[in-house]
Amino acid sequence: MRDVKALIATVLVGLSLVAVAGSGETEREIAELVAGMSVREKLGQLKQGVLYTRKDVDCYLPIVRKGEVGSFIFNETLKREWRDELQKAALESPRRIPLSFADNIIHGWRTNFPIPLALSCSFEPELFEEMAHVGAREGREAGLDWTFGPMCDTARDPRWGRVAEGCGEDPWLNGVYAAAQVRGFQGEDASAPDRVAACVKHYCGYSFSMGGHDYNDADFSEWSLRNLHLPPFAAAIDAGALTVMSGFNTVDGVPVLASRRIMTDMLRGGLGFRGMVVTDYNAVIQTVTWGLAADEREAASLCLCAGNDVEMKSTAYDTLERELAEGRLDETVIDEAVKRVLRFKQAVGLFRRPWAIPEPDAEPRRREDAEALALARKCAVRSAVLVKNDGVLPLAADSDIRVALIGPLAEDRKTFVGCWAGMESHGPEVPESLADAVRRAMGGKGRLSVVRGCSTNVKPPVAKRDDGLPVLDRESVPDDASFDLEGAIAAAREADVVIFALGEALDWTGENASRCQLTPTGRQLELFEKVTSAIGKKRIVTLLISGRPLAVPVVSRRSDAVFVAFHGGDGGAFALADLIFGKASPSGRLTISVPYDVSQIPVFYNASVTGRPNQGHYLDTPERGAMYPFGFGLTYTRFAYSSVSIRGQSAVARITNTGTRPGEEVVQFYIRQRACSEGVRPKRELRGFRKVRLDPGESVLVEFPLDAKTLGYYDRSGNWRCDSGIYDIFIAPDSVSGTGVQFKWE
Ligand code: BGC
Repeated sequence: MRDVKALIATVLVGLSLVAVAGSGETEREIAELVAGMSVREKLGQLKQGVLYTRKDVDCYLPIVRKGEVGSFIFNETLKREWRDELQKAALESPRRIPLSFADNIIHGWRTNFPIPLALSCSFEPELFEEMAHVGAREGREAGLDWTFGPMCDTARDPRWGRVAEGCGEDPWLNGVYAAAQVRGFQGEDASAPDRVAACVKHYCGYSFSMGGHDYNDADFSEWSLRNLHLPPFAAAIDAGALTVMSGFNTVDGVPVLASRRIMTDMLRGGLGFRGMVVTDYNAVIQTVTWGLAADEREAASLCLCAGNDVEMKSTAYDTLERELAEGRLDETVIDEAVKRVLRFKQAVGLFRRPWAIPEPDAEPRRREDAEALALARKCAVRSAVLVKNDGVLPLAADSDIRVALIGPLAEDRKTFVGCWAGMESHGPEVPESLADAVRRAMGGKGRLSVVRGCSTNVKPPVAKRDDGLPVLDRESVPDDASFDLEGAIAAAREADVVIFALGEALDWTGENASRCQLTPTGRQLELFEKVTSAIGKKRIVTLLISGRPLAVPVVSRRSDAVFVAFHGGDGGAFALADLIFGKASPSGRLTISVPYDVSQIPVFYNASVTGRPNQGHYLDTPERGAMYPFGFGLTYTRFAYSSVSIRGQSAVARITNTGTRPGEEVVQFYIRQRACSEGVRPKRELRGFRKVRLDPGESVLVEFPLDAKTLGYYDRSGNWRCDSGIYDIFIAPDSVSGTGVQFKWE
């Protein structure tokens, strides 16, 4: 450790060259630095290595010492000693350019927050900002200066596992949340000891991966590109995001990272992005696998010239040295990319402070951990969405109530953490299971029995066809040794209230976790159906704890109350128990439509009205639209909307709590343009919301501005337009209720 500290002192003197604040000076110094670099050193700055094992560190050390690597991604294996060793080697390299260290802070680092899809249901962007700030602080302490978030892909297909990482189906809302996360990660100054650089991803269109398969073609129109996919990126870039990550998907037949039109013309030209672009993991070399580039050499040139500065994981950029030597590449392209990398390193303060914060031998700050946990709990409370309540909730806590808690998530501490946590460097378990939390909420009264009943993580049964090909064996049930129907029925019979805790296993959601069925994994649904059939009339509360919306109408039919909770992080169980027992009040609203059945997908609220609105539906189901639409969610009280009208340049409505309990309403503001000559606009588009807390009998006048920003859209050239003409405005509790008020915009 002494060695490292002595080195810091010497090296910092050398680094003062580019440590000066004030962009003119810094620019000059960066230009001088680049002018003195060899081609290998320049390419080194564009190389991002990945560290999994000690062996990787040993392999990289000699290359780092030569200044031929610019950054590392830890991929959940962050170790302080590795970081120190590598940074020391970089600072001993000829140019002494520090390394940058990155990882994914998607919903927290040490503290696990609700997955973004969950937290988006809070309709509280400030929570995203706070979550990102805590993640940034904890990440910095661990040695990171850069995170690969926020992810702001507008997603309509819940079969795609990565719906968990984004904020649902609305592009405007994704933009609001992405901007909040950028502010939270970077603050005013990304070099501050509690901030990191943000990386807005996956630019762009990745969420439209066909069929919900990951890493796939995404085929959509220019109209959708402009109005669905780019707007959240525009918002994040306006908020100051220092970096952008290109996506894995194709757009218009080309892997997006190889499209100069998208990566440069639109990103830098249209959206005005000035920062650094990193590819996704191994994506450069994958342009060969896609069948676009013939070889590594072509892949590297294509991706660099398209606009990707840093190559994550693959090493195709090494071939650029030859491309340069043989005159096929202009060195200024490389120089510009290297300058963006150096500006980034300057912005995150690496030249001034290359070491992790606090200094390696300092104590972890426990008080802040407790504050972070309190925030994680608050976030989880605000995220859960009550979608059904026949009056059974809230349950009385201080009574003799007998509760049976049934399901594989009852005592599970791992699943709640969500898809981007629970890895080695994160807390692998949440502090409180649902059983612990319910017991606490019952305050020593009543009786709680807990039965796991089955497992979440069971592979579907596979059979062999006559020709030997594997098929899903629909006749057989998955093999689950833990299936305990008798135990579950016995516990349920003894109880006054049965709480089912059902959901998805962790590795069934997130990246590379596509599904073609939207049901709780394993035999959970069978357990639910058999238990509910066996016990007759009981009060039933079901918690759906998943990474994506689950389409389970039978659960809604047979339950008196249902929470769509998603993976809620360290506070997930705490929140659900508090909500069930009325210690907290539900206030979340869905940001992704919940379908009745997977066969309806895509189901989303901001669809076109079509030329034949009453035709074209499936004949073999009466179900139209979503089971629970975007924006929907109940509370323990009721709200009435009145006087929806236009007043001057505003749309207004009066919201009154007509129930008997205090509660929070998410007042939603949608617009519709009646005739748009550029293209058909959705039947509704969210353009504002207010979350208001009202006591019984209390009312409030809520107002939304009517201006070109709220009413407009992007045309096919990426210009924001607002046409004069007739618009409908809706101020409503969700995306399908309320009636429109017409007005004319001149
Ligand atoms: C994911 C990115 C992530 C990267 C690094 C990729 O597979 O698509 O979202 O940031 O890995 O972990």
